Amino acid sequence: MQTQFTRDAGVEVPLLCGAMYPCGNPELVAAVSEAGALGVVQPISFAYVHSGSLATGLAKVRELTQKPIAFNAIVEKASKKYERVMRGWIEEALDADIRFFVTALGNPREVVRLVHAAGGVVYHDVTERRFAQKARDEGVDGLIAVNRRAGGHAGQRSAKELFDELRDLELPIVCAGGVGDEDGYVDMLQLGYAGVQMGTRFIATPECKVHADYRQLIVDSEEDDIVLTKRLSGLDVAVIRRGSPQEMEAGEPGALLSWLLRQPKTKHIARTLLALQSLRALKRSSRAAVSQHGYKDVYQAGKSVSGIHAIEPAADIVKRFQAAADRAS
Ligand SMILES: Cc1cc2nc3c(=O)[nH]c(=O)nc-3n(C[C@H](O)[C@H](O)[C@H](O)COP(=O)(O)O)c2cc1C
Repeated sequence: MQTQFTRDAGVEVPLLCGAMYPCGNPELVAAVSEAGALGVVQPISFAYVHSGSLATGLAKVRELTQKPIAFNAIVEKASKKYERVMRGWIEEALDADIRFFVTALGNPREVVRLVHAAGGVVYHDVTERRFAQKARDEGVDGLIAVNRRAGGHAGQRSAKELFDELRDLELPIVCAGGVGDEDGYVDMLQLGYAGVQMGTRFIATPECKVHADYRQLIVDSEEDDIVLTKRLSGLDVAVIRRGSPQEMEAGEPGALLSWLLRQPKTKHIARTLLALQSLRALKRSSRAAVSQHGYKDVYQAGKSVSGIHAIEPAADIVKRFQAAADRAS
């Protein structure tokens, strides 16, 4: 099945394995791309959790596949140092012939400029129309519509509400959130989405280097086990309640911080305070996700857990979804 997304990415299957911090690792990205879909590199995961540097991680991917891969640029203006490092990584990704970029959490203008100059495309993560309009004005080629069932930073709308809100912007739209099985996948394509980005489904694979307990918890969890917490980053992040420590459970970060988060002038300061406050927990969560020692902490996952019933190789998932899309088209 071909869509504007498959043409933009040069892949066979309208399916992405989304970027994931901390669990996106080179073997998973490569397995998804080799099977005909698009694996997205999360550079912070590659550089700090799995490979020691982005270059080493990209080299590992290239040992395993020559097919197209994508790169996730979180463009939030966190600090001058972060912006410098991210800019260097984007150039490194372009040098490594990556031509599909997924931007998130900020203004994609600079990435669009660099990537278009190299002949590539940029899809931008959005949760509502006003962000999509801004991104379109900055020249992005497509949108990744993050709905309220997504793993990672969740949106506020259902997949259908978001599609209806964005459809007249005349950009290809990829659905992100809530899809764990073929029926959900086909439903989203039939709704008009040009592709689907999944995260949680691909954590429950042997290629994803997380602890076995984390994979199993995804298989065993139901929708109601997923809760949103602002305590990690100041934005809603979906986590599995059973795998999370008390302090990471759903809830607001306290009256003062909640107020600061709502004010346009102070929201970045509040997010920085929260990031500092949760740094220890966040470090523990990265370790928990990759540790081989049964250390349990924060396990991120979306409501797509309801459609995930087995740990399976990434290629089997891609092939199964591809067959379902072909049957339906
Ligand atoms: C553990 C985890 C970490 C994530 N980290 C990122 C990230 O670093 N950057 C990003 O753009 N999206 C991130 N996401 C979002 C995914 O790329 C994808 O959009 C989302 O998982 C789709 O929802 P699903 O989990 O229901 O399939 C993350 C998702 C999960 C589950």
